[in-house]
Amino acid sequence: MDSFELNKILGAILGTCLGILAINIAAGAIFAPTIPAKPGYEIAVPEQKEGGAAKPEEEKQPPIEQLLASADVHRGENSAKKCQACHTFNKGGRPLVGPNLWGVVGRPKASQPGFNYSAGLKAKGGNWTIDDINQFITNPKVAVPGTNMTFAGIPKPSERADIIVYLNSLSDNPAPLPKAAEATDTSKSQ
Ligand code: HEC
Repeated sequence: MDSFELNKILGAILGTCLGILAINIAAGAIFAPTIPAKPGYEIAVPEQKEGGAAKPEEEKQPPIEQLLASADVHRGENSAKKCQACHTFNKGGRPLVGPNLWGVVGRPKASQPGFNYSAGLKAKGGNWTIDDINQFITNPKVAVPGTNMTFAGIPKPSERADIIVYLNSLSDNPAPLPKAAEATDTSKSQ
């Protein structure tokens, strides 16, 4: 084998390598892999709250009447500090950004004299029931579209129950709270 023959062999090998490289690049361009934004598999695990043993439907939206039984006026008064930027709670208290809330449970919606309510709330009609207040303070904008109450809402059901028990106490003549047993016929899906 002379050196010319060797050069031909080495040249052929080099050519083959270049060819493979070219095919590899071309294949990479054609079959570009899609890289997922989040590495790994998505595994759908139902959310578990602390205490895990609770029934799933209770975890989602426990009926408010059930929570009222274990609610606490003083905890509610404390939580209602979140409302005080916009509401007074004392009898005859002046309106701030929102209307005075003395005796709001059972009073007609949008009924504080002189307060400029939104068209959305005025359109609701009826009295403020415990269910209505519960829904309203869960997410005001969803419960009353067009409301002026720019408040994110209270996601925690037990905290809402505390606040409702507190609101219910703000009356010369507080109405008895509904019991869970009586509530089954009146409670609707949210
Ligand atoms: C950022 C200010 C703001 C905060 C905070 C706020 N509200 Fe309000 N709230 C309003 C305004 C404004 C209205 C009048 C809404 C309308 O006209 O649509 C209102 C209306 C209400 C009404 C209806 C009263 C009526 O006379 O019909 C209730 C009940 C109420 N708020 C409860 C609460 C509770 C409970 C909290 C605290 C958990 C709270 N709000 C926090 C501003 C606020």
